[in-house]
Amino acid sequence: MSDFEGLRALVTGGASGIGRATAELLAERGARVAVLDLDPSPVGKPLLAYRADVTDDASVREAVAAAVADLGGHGVLDVLVNNAGIGAQGTVEDNPDGEWHRVYDVNVLGMVRTTRAGLPHLRASAHAAIVNTCSIAATAGLPQRALYSATKGAVYSLTLAMAADHVREGIRVNCVNPGTVDTPWVGRLLDAAPDPAAERAALEARQPTGRLVSPAEVAGAIAYLASPLSGATTGTALAVDGGMQGLRLRPVAR
Ligand SMILES: NC(=O)c1ccc[n+]([C@@H]2O[C@H](COP(=O)([O-])OP(=O)(O)OC[C@H]3O[C@@H](n4cnc5c(N)ncnc54)[C@H](O)[C@@H]3O)[C@@H](O)[C@H]2O)c1
Repeated sequence: MSDFEGLRALVTGGASGIGRATAELLAERGARVAVLDLDPSPVGKPLLAYRADVTDDASVREAVAAAVADLGGHGVLDVLVNNAGIGAQGTVEDNPDGEWHRVYDVNVLGMVRTTRAGLPHLRASAHAAIVNTCSIAATAGLPQRALYSATKGAVYSLTLAMAADHVREGIRVNCVNPGTVDTPWVGRLLDAAPDPAAERAALEARQPTGRLVSPAEVAGAIAYLASPLSGATTGTALAVDGGMQGLRLRPVAR
């Protein structure tokens, strides 16, 4: 497919996992793609890479301006993928205020900052699309994820509000809600578990497909939402969760 031919895209958190797979897929489908990440060192050609911390407004503005200039679209940006995010574990009792502020700063305000910096350039596009990486944690109650889930609930609501605010400017805004995805992040979580194999098996069993989602599968959903072929789709959350949100299976008979 070459639906992104001639378009310019920016992916935050694009050096690893879902963001990396998305940046590579958009490039394969014809886009010129820039990655913004805390550590962009793993990113190679044809992707452009910029170091920025989404919690630092000045660094975001600088990186977005540099990326837009280098993408060569005379100030036009067509696709913004707000994907950078971090995890948090525990119940509502387990994290001090400082940690709540830190995770909100990355997962929610990070999207606010990159979108603010990107909007003037997106307004100049004939096919502007923003895709936010949300999570099944926004729509299902998962144990030991109070803080993380609250940030993703905010991302879901932010997606709807942004979709309403910018629809008349021709900018579509959607989000993807992945289940558990086999990325370096989940690898780190598994490594920290007392029994990593049992933890992986439990996460796999939680999804009706019986396996983890792949980063490429989430990238495919993000590309679908970002594509000019999806011009009528805005204000939606697309589940990419192996059926975890929508299906209620009967237990397997033993
Ligand atoms: N892996 C999962 O199971 C899963 C499920 C649902 C949603 N998500 C969401 O997907 C997104 C990507 O997760 P992933 O699993 O690919 O993680 P990952 O850790 O593999 O990649 C995240 C990337 O974001 C970057 N990043 C982190 N903080 C940053 C900051 N302050 N500024 C700039 N870049 C920063 C990291 O350097 C890294 O390259 C996150 O928003 C996460 O909440 C992940």
